[in-house]
Amino acid sequence: LKEDNAGDGNDGVRRRDFLDIAAVSFGVVGVGAVAFPLVNQMAPPADVMALASIEVDLTNIAEGQAIKASWRKQPVFIRNLTQAEIDEANAVDVSGLRDKESLAERTKEGKANWLVTMGVCTHLGCVPTGVVTGENKGDYNGYFCPCHGSHYDTAGRIRKGPAPTNLVVPEFEFLDDSTIRIG
Ligand code: FES
Repeated sequence: LKEDNAGDGNDGVRRRDFLDIAAVSFGVVGVGAVAFPLVNQMAPPADVMALASIEVDLTNIAEGQAIKASWRKQPVFIRNLTQAEIDEANAVDVSGLRDKESLAERTKEGKANWLVTMGVCTHLGCVPTGVVTGENKGDYNGYFCPCHGSHYDTAGRIRKGPAPTNLVVPEFEFLDDSTIRIG
């Protein structure tokens, strides 16, 4: 900094400018040094980013069958409902349900046979079983959670037991007649 030889007071201004610039520079460096590790910590790992959405080929899921896919490290049930199962779901009076949703609201238009739900019980997060014979069979031909006995119907709607809401339908779309993208 120049000396204020002229005695006009500018030297004081220049000094303050320098101090302000120095403070701002230091502040930026300081914030940068603190923020970087936080940002790094918050960024999802690369493998999770790669699974942000998945595509599933439905070709080999026969009527009446279901598969369990994995999306964002959680199970997803993809089920090809039979006409009888669709009829059973549609025959239910939605107004009497705990979580009032019709099958049409839970499936895509013209594709009511494709039920896609998270395979996570809405009570405390166990993985329900599909329709199986034997002691784990649910009362409503949908899914049954063995942890505390929640029964879901053929549309994945809660019908009995402690679960508060229906099995969650994740965001998904049909890419063509036999391929869906979840996420
Ligand atoms: Fe499914 Fe409790 S976690 S009934």
